[in-house]
Amino acid sequence: MPDATWTEIGSVDELKQRPLQQIVCGQTKLALSYKDGRFAAISGVCNHIGGPLGEGRLEGDYVVCPWHYWKFHHRTGQGEPGYEGDQVATYAVKVEDGRVFVDLTPVTKRQKLPKQSHPLARPIVRADGPVRVLGLATTAMTADQPRFSASDSLLEEALAYAHEHLQLDTQLIKLRDLSFRACEGFYSKAAEACTWPCSITQMDPTDQMDRVYEAVVHWADVILVSTPIRWGGASSLYYKMVERMNCIQNQETIANRHLLKNKVAAFIIMGGQDNVQGVAGQLMTFFAEVGCQFPQFPFIAHSRGWSAEDMERNNSEVQNSRELREGAQALVGRAAEMARLMVEGQLAMHPLARGGRKAHQLDSEPTG
Ligand code: FES
Repeated sequence: MPDATWTEIGSVDELKQRPLQQIVCGQTKLALSYKDGRFAAISGVCNHIGGPLGEGRLEGDYVVCPWHYWKFHHRTGQGEPGYEGDQVATYAVKVEDGRVFVDLTPVTKRQKLPKQSHPLARPIVRADGPVRVLGLATTAMTADQPRFSASDSLLEEALAYAHEHLQLDTQLIKLRDLSFRACEGFYSKAAEACTWPCSITQMDPTDQMDRVYEAVVHWADVILVSTPIRWGGASSLYYKMVERMNCIQNQETIANRHLLKNKVAAFIIMGGQDNVQGVAGQLMTFFAEVGCQFPQFPFIAHSRGWSAEDMERNNSEVQNSRELREGAQALVGRAAEMARLMVEGQLAMHPLARGGRKAHQLDSEPTG
């Protein structure tokens, strides 16, 4: 008979089928490994933000967390070389009569190394000053082979007008100048696996999406997005960006945090092809879901329609259109005015129900 402190978790034949598995014994989650003919157990809860280690994989002697890939030795519980001080609890395991037993009193305890928080994680405090307009250009082109872009040119027109005539602060980010990874769908592993700041941003210092996050979350009052129409949708870089901005929306879901409070979004949509309405719907849906406000008439657009195949004429039409240039100026003017009202607290704040999916109030960040 086993000692009273041992808990039976299954048969050897069954448990040795998998090199790593999550075992739950009451309140205790274990990552049980089977390697070189031996069982070992460490805590099944990752030191990072609690990912299920037993659902990861065994890579050599290390258990790799499935959420953000931290590694812990499958026997000692220690982090990988250089991070040995980051350690998850270990448990004694024994085999008797073809059955596997675990002592749920840890042999070694969990230890965490102090961590530096990412700069983007700081509180969101709006610095004093005039309304700030961020232009996000999403069209793709070879950086050292520049050409005319209808969407870029109207965005630049709007920013110049905001700076020179409205005396606002402006900033332009061209997504094509940034090197950033595609969203890897951490949210699909578990809601908590999608973090703010973005998991990729925290893990990969070479990823330049942090510049967009910094500008959108910590700097801008107005977010002015320009896009071409490509096959009836926005540009591929636009979608790549907003997929990475899932972490902003996800904070509403998992932490009741509204990171884009008091922000106004507006759009410039230019296409030789048609489907302005579809693209506008895509853009507005996303920015509505991250809690942005829209001015009246929140986008300007131009399209010559489905049968217009001579794109060079589209460019010359936009270049020569005073109406579109004035439209871009008026758009940024409307958006900035809406932002001013919000920044000055002249618009009533209402409880923010999440897109009709779950009616609860969000705790917003202080905006200073
Ligand atoms: S690496 Fe395990 S939870 Fe993030």
